[in-house]
Amino acid sequence: MRPSIRPPPLLLAACLLLSSFSLSLEERRSQEELFLGSLGLSGRPRPAGSRQVPSALWRMFRRSESQQARDSDLCTVSEYGVRGNIIRYVQDQGRLVSGWSSSCQACLEKQLYFNMSVLQPVELLSLAQLEIKFHWKLLQGPRALSVSLYKVIRATLRGADPTASRRLLLSQSVRLQPEPTSVAMDLTPLAESWRKPGRNYGLLLELLPLSTDPEELFPFHPGNSLPLEPAFHLPLIQASLVAVSLNPHQCRSRQRRSAVHLPVTPSNVCKARRLYIDFKDVGWQDWIIAPQGYMANYCHGECPFPLSESLNGTNHAILQTLVHSLDPHGTPQPCCVPIRLSPISMLYYDNNDNVVLRHYQDMVVDECGCR
Ligand SMILES: *[C@@H]1O[C@H](CO)[C@@H](O)[C@H](O)[C@H]1NC(C)=O
Ligand SMILES: *[C@@H]1O[C@H](CO)[C@@H](O)[C@H](O)[C@H]1NC(C)=O
Repeated sequence: MRPSIRPPPLLLAACLLLSSFSLSLEERRSQEELFLGSLGLSGRPRPAGSRQVPSALWRMFRRSESQQARDSDLCTVSEYGVRGNIIRYVQDQGRLVSGWSSSCQACLEKQLYFNMSVLQPVELLSLAQLEIKFHWKLLQGPRALSVSLYKVIRATLRGADPTASRRLLLSQSVRLQPEPTSVAMDLTPLAESWRKPGRNYGLLLELLPLSTDPEELFPFHPGNSLPLEPAFHLPLIQASLVAVSLNPHQCRSRQRRSAVHLPVTPSNVCKARRLYIDFKDVGWQDWIIAPQGYMANYCHGECPFPLSESLNGTNHAILQTLVHSLDPHGTPQPCCVPIRLSPISMLYYDNNDNVVLRHYQDMVVDECGCR
């Protein structure tokens, strides 16, 4: 199955079935599944909380919206300088390892786990950048941390030496402030290996509180074996993996959309008509973050004999019109259908509550023709 090259179900216009008929609940579900499947979603996302949309993603969304009005390449992410039409903030699902690390008595350990199965197999991963933000809400606690990041290369057996199953990726100290301090690192090859089933053991973050000021409330001394509690408050740690990928099936070249401002002229002849789709009307407002709706348009009208050039008919449609004019009951008129579609950008939550920005093909009818 290759749902990505099927026309989006929202735009399937039946030529002669336009007369009113409504879908049953079950039929509506199957239409919904078709659309969700082409976004790589296993079902309708039900976002748990309203996870904040990273401001960088908002900026990219607004920019791509304004880019769509111009003729531009939506398959390059200029912010990162890589090819791609999908940008995900894959959220960390790792847990805090509460006890002290066996390799470092005074350290705190946190697992980082990014589920890379949210990428469809067809997608080419261009970039995976780890971003970890540290900050304080409370004043007490250490003002600096020594941060070590390890990749876990295999599951640790109980009792085995944990240091044998990991490799150091990064080690640096971080000053803690009320404003977040971030650490970023390119993890593209590692994240690519995590896409293979059973190969993702995640990362391990080791935090060693550093006391720079002896007067500080927090009485940390290296080697203190009865240490940190209750004075040690964990800093807030937010980790995400920014994954930029390219779905090559959804990256056809495309021209400027021309039907943004369709004239409202009454006519029976085939042409694009204005249709605003409000995602609230289809009940998707909780998982689609933006836009709230968009001008999708549709094709409607007759393809009368003689088919004029402006109706963009194929040779076949011209002949069909001719035959229809001779035998109106035996042969129908050609259909008025979309012949040029353009993409929109969508910002949404996926099934794992990740925030995704995606340029999604064939969402707007620009031009119609008789086929
Ligand atoms: C990872 O995501 C996939 C697809 O959403 C899901 O089927 C799987 O259960 C997830 N795995 C974990 C460990 O969360
Ligand atoms: C046919 O295509 C032309 C441009 O190629 C366009 O201006 C016109 O609106 C199209 N006709 C219909 C019915 O959409």
